[in-house]
Amino acid sequence: MKGLPGFRDFYPEPMPTPDSWSLDLRRHIFDTWRGTAERYGFREYDGPPIEELELYTKKSGDEIVGQLYNFSDKGERDVSLRPEMTPTLARMAAAHTRNYKKPIKWFSIPQLFRYERQQKGRLREHFQFNADILGEENLAADAELIALLIDTLRDLKLMSDDFIIRLSSRRAWQEFFENGGGKKDDAYEFYQIVDKLEREEPAVSGKKLAKLGFSREQVNDFIEGGQPTDELSAIIGNIEARGLGDFIKVDYRIIRGLAYYTGPVYEAFDKRGKFRAIAGGGRYDHLVKLISGGKTDLPALGFGMGDVVLAELLKDRDLIPPLGQTLDAFVQITDESLRKASLGLVQQLRQAGLLTEYPLLKARPDKQFKRALELETTWLITLQNLNQTTIKNLETRVEMTVPLIEVVTSLQG
Ligand code: HAM
Repeated sequence: MKGLPGFRDFYPEPMPTPDSWSLDLRRHIFDTWRGTAERYGFREYDGPPIEELELYTKKSGDEIVGQLYNFSDKGERDVSLRPEMTPTLARMAAAHTRNYKKPIKWFSIPQLFRYERQQKGRLREHFQFNADILGEENLAADAELIALLIDTLRDLKLMSDDFIIRLSSRRAWQEFFENGGGKKDDAYEFYQIVDKLEREEPAVSGKKLAKLGFSREQVNDFIEGGQPTDELSAIIGNIEARGLGDFIKVDYRIIRGLAYYTGPVYEAFDKRGKFRAIAGGGRYDHLVKLISGGKTDLPALGFGMGDVVLAELLKDRDLIPPLGQTLDAFVQITDESLRKASLGLVQQLRQAGLLTEYPLLKARPDKQFKRALELETTWLITLQNLNQTTIKNLETRVEMTVPLIEVVTSLQG
């Protein structure tokens, strides 16, 4: 039997086929996400992978609702696998807002599920690094998040030649729409048309815009002529002050597909234009209030970065570090009468924190040696008798004789 389409199996290195997914690479990406977020003072949270369906149907907008993995559970509750983390975060923050000093800076690495049409960079599950700030209205928070986004990608060794943050303003688009005579109820539909402009046939989007009373030319003129609003200038100034100005530009083609955004919005793209968006986010000041039924009003903002496009981009730019298994020590057993003493040494080495392997069963010494090399072992240790060992450094090929009771300390030193 095969796995479901759009769902991945993650194998440890070495990869069985060129298009297999690597758990070691996933770990490299997650470790980087965690490391950068923690350096910026963000704390990790998590929530359930299944939520009440209503959490999404009311708040995320039609696009995501059309992609839900939803069903009735055995208690006849309408539930859904989470397609995104933001509604869960808003629910969690609203429930215990008084417990936390503002601004709340939180991150998470959830697995998300969307029944999408499968295409390059889009699967039916993905992991998404989410970083959000709650309880801060000032644009300094928007800039802080964008800086975190930039530094996360830089920590993965991507440079300003590799990616760019395209910054825009949902508010500026809202004003454009209202000043152009757009009806309030049509606003979200309008944002979705603009969101798809780069991916859709011009004639198709032209028709859709006309229905709402706009022309493609009008929209194009706004995009081309787009001057940064005061808000966007302030954000860019803040990013420039950090020396990160090369990583960001104003681009009104960005509007974001989700319904809840209210202010500055942005997406990260690879500069060669080969891939879908690496990350996207923005300010959503009304979502917590909406989700808490008016009880808690917290301004909020954040972004999500998926692992799928990111892994493709890292492969494309040859930025994946060596990921195979490596060992500190391999205890060779050439004399089976020394197996028990060897097991004692294996245990001591592991307790001392050294990555240690040994042959489970009797094996020829040349086979054991080959295995130690395959596992990129540093030290090959062989008991000569119950008191003496030889330790060979497999990198330098230098060999020394060491009393058994001194092996652990000699390797630690
Ligand atoms: P989003 O733009 O829907 O935003 O997703 C963010 C990123 O997740 C995308 O740029 C992409 O890298 C990745 N992604 C989304 N869908 C898929 C998929 N089907 N397959 C692979 N990767 C995917 C959100 O989800 C917002 N909740 C982010 C956010 C957090 N806004 C504020 N805080």
